[in-house]
Amino acid sequence: MTIRTPFTTLFNIEHPIVSAPMGGVAGGALAAAVSNSGALGLVGGGYGDLDWLRRELTIVREATRKPWGVGVITWHANEAAVDLALSFEPPVFFLSFGDPRPYARRIKAKGVKLVCQVQDLASARLALEAGADALVAHGAEGGGHGATRGAMPLVPAVVDLAGKTPVLAAGGIADGRGLAAALMLGAAGALIGTRFYATIEAIGEAQAKRALVEASGDDTLRTRVFDMARNYDWPMQYTGRAINNEFSERWHGRENALQAQLPAEQARYQAAATVGNYDVKMVWASEAIDLICEVEPAANIVARVAAEAEALLKRAASVCAS
Ligand SMILES: Cc1cc2nc3c(=O)[nH]c(=O)nc-3n(C[C@H](O)[C@H](O)[C@H](O)COP(=O)(O)O)c2cc1C
Repeated sequence: MTIRTPFTTLFNIEHPIVSAPMGGVAGGALAAAVSNSGALGLVGGGYGDLDWLRRELTIVREATRKPWGVGVITWHANEAAVDLALSFEPPVFFLSFGDPRPYARRIKAKGVKLVCQVQDLASARLALEAGADALVAHGAEGGGHGATRGAMPLVPAVVDLAGKTPVLAAGGIADGRGLAAALMLGAAGALIGTRFYATIEAIGEAQAKRALVEASGDDTLRTRVFDMARNYDWPMQYTGRAINNEFSERWHGRENALQAQLPAEQARYQAAATVGNYDVKMVWASEAIDLICEVEPAANIVARVAAEAEALLKRAASVCAS
């Protein structure tokens, strides 16, 4: 038996699990591994590097016959990146962080399903207006960029708003307990990011993946200092959750002081990133890293999360006294 939801039916997949389009981390190999194991794998097109996109989309398209998708960061996207991604005929297109309406028509005109990740009710309304086929209600617990609302109250509020449009939960989900809880909140599945970063197939240095295993959710923080150091001008409502390190320890809360020394600190960050010095270079990470015990193949995670959630849901009825 498998868990069937409106999302699995609409997207023609076996498990109600989607791997997040993590920029620079979720390449074609990870997306294909997730899709081949019965979930939906997404390539993380991030800021829209065309060469990177071309290479990774070629990989995923050749490596799976199952549904897969591609995502870009909406506020940073451009027509060239969207059109390049569409030329690979992805079954699913994912937009997050910004107004999806400028790209929605282009995407839907190709018969591609549109999924929009939203961080509050206002962005959920925009996504519905854009004609999204599914929404992802994205809580601040998640790794990487996000906003302020927690998944527990945001998910059911977006579900109520979305009506018949399926909603996935995201932010802080890393095992079957999280998926089962998401379904109880009314979601039709879960989008999972950080847990899939700690996989064999994810792009990323071994040291970063090891940090996801070794650190605790207590060690993470939402900050903008890494975006300042990397010279990304993210809109103010979004911060990024990362593992606290020497760089964030020094500058988080002192952004004005960082601004005053920005060229030197950007050069220091760039140098550290080049040699893999994680005292300075960041690792985006979820509060849910407490639940990550090893770096493993993505297929193991899909199978385990689905089986755990199914077992929990079957057991749930016994909680009610007769
Ligand atoms: C390393 C990393 C990179 C990410 N990059 C992107 C991105 O480029 N675009 C995007 O929409 N979301 C990105 N996200 C956020 C995910 O889409 C998702 O919302 C988040 O990972 C869910 O929370 P979780 O990490 O607790 O599973 C990223 C997350 C991580 C951990």
